[in-house]
Amino acid sequence: MTRTTDTDWWRSAVIYQIYPRSYADGNGDGIGDLAGIRDRLSHLRALGVDAVWLSPWYVSPMADAGYDIADYRDIDPVFGTLAEAESLIAEAEAQGLKIIVDMVPNHCSDRHPWFRAALEAGPGSPERQRFHFRPGRGEQGDLPPNNWQSHFGGPAWTQVADGEWYLHMFAPQQPDWNWQHPHVKAEFESVLRFWLDRGVAGFRIDVADHLVKAAGLPETTMLPAGAVRPWRDQEGVHDIYRRWRRILDEYPGHRVFVAELWDDDPDRFSRYLRPDELHSAFNFPLLQSPWDADALRNVVDTTLAAHARVGAPATWVLSNHDTTRHVTRYGRTDTSYALDGRRVHHAPVDLDLGTRRARAAALLNLALPGSAYIYQGEELGLWEVEDIPLNLRQDPTLRQSGGTDPGRDGCRVPLPWADEAPPFAFSPPSTGTEPWLPQPPAWKDHTVAAQDNDPGSMLELYRTALRIRTGHPDLGDGTLAWLPAPEGVLAFTRSSAFACVVNLSSQPEPLPAHTRQLLTSVPLDDGMLPTDAAAWLELL
Ligand code: GLC
Ligand code: CA
Repeated sequence: MTRTTDTDWWRSAVIYQIYPRSYADGNGDGIGDLAGIRDRLSHLRALGVDAVWLSPWYVSPMADAGYDIADYRDIDPVFGTLAEAESLIAEAEAQGLKIIVDMVPNHCSDRHPWFRAALEAGPGSPERQRFHFRPGRGEQGDLPPNNWQSHFGGPAWTQVADGEWYLHMFAPQQPDWNWQHPHVKAEFESVLRFWLDRGVAGFRIDVADHLVKAAGLPETTMLPAGAVRPWRDQEGVHDIYRRWRRILDEYPGHRVFVAELWDDDPDRFSRYLRPDELHSAFNFPLLQSPWDADALRNVVDTTLAAHARVGAPATWVLSNHDTTRHVTRYGRTDTSYALDGRRVHHAPVDLDLGTRRARAAALLNLALPGSAYIYQGEELGLWEVEDIPLNLRQDPTLRQSGGTDPGRDGCRVPLPWADEAPPFAFSPPSTGTEPWLPQPPAWKDHTVAAQDNDPGSMLELYRTALRIRTGHPDLGDGTLAWLPAPEGVLAFTRSSAFACVVNLSSQPEPLPAHTRQLLTSVPLDDGMLPTDAAAWLELL
């Protein structure tokens, strides 16, 4: 039985994140689209992943690159049509690739018909109750209803023409839904069914812990230190996911949820993964951890213990469309990462060092128990593009933070496929359009074509690692056992037959006794594992 037809496929799956704007452009307007993805499914097949998660493709004014949805049941024209989406799902399936779509239930676009209706209907109307509208504070009502801040900077409230304010935890163009409202619940259940009927294998849930807000929207100043923030992780959110799980389970084919959860409390995190709730969630502590053996080992142990309590598989993620690419992170002096850590843009970066560590991290990531995510371009060793001119940057966080945050464009630059110069075959030949964000000329050595068949390339490292992983009965879901190892070295087995060793110390280290080397991130040095390198070994 192959992994993708297995009922438990998601417990071991390697899932590739496509950011549709930046994967491949089929029609030559400089923006990635569904035609481009369909043309380049062969890349994913050659890579050997099991499934694809696509960032939002829905109708959107693109105030937050599609995370502001105006129609949850149709495709934005910049990406294509619903018919093309249906073809993409069918073609992917025919190649053994499952499609997971993004679901954004915390907020919609200010262009969503229900929000337009709420604006028109005015204060006190039933239409406004589907969102969080409130009068302002102060004598004139010109102060926000409470002190909550948007994650993108500034107050989480915007005032409308008639004087009322509405809540938006992200951009002002992203009004938060009121999840106490029965219409909102029913609408999302219908949207889930709409896509399940079209054959998607599951949903990635955007800011999954934010849907329900604390009653009365209390000021944070009145909360005891360490209390759960009132805009997230409220008890009621679990009822929503229990209901969603029942819907998903009505469908054949073992479909799944993966939650975006930035929660550093492993106990609160694992509550979302109880058997009647969500299948999986992104495990961000690994992404945030510094490149340090003790810190990484601690993340692995804490993660596995938290997941074991609820019987869920862990997921492992090094990068995504919101975070600084890990080649860059690992090339800095401070290799740790906080969500607002993109503010350390322009810290000195040693890209060779970052790349070397990224190669080792890939082998670590793919050897750990559970499923793993690959963010498009990490298999090419792409780095964060930090020199995009300000006037070309598109992410709203740049403006909303008053310029203190350069935004997330640097990890969203269109992929280089072939050729010696931009657009690197991102768009079809001779269209003459520039990609929506500029690509560094140095990516000529990082295109898929340049790396194909080069045994030393990042791409071939990923391909080989995935081939070994898919064929190895002990990789993916399961447990690990740590091996005794010198300080600064991580060494663990996945069974009596397979071991992974990562050297984060400053000198070459001996490998444990083994019968065969399956894969190393760099050549060994006289039989020793060099600094910032990893090895997969067969022990028996
Ligand atoms: C999630 C997405 C991010 C988006 C935000 C608001 O964090 O990953 O890209 O801006 O939610 O939807
Ligand atoms: Ca296009």
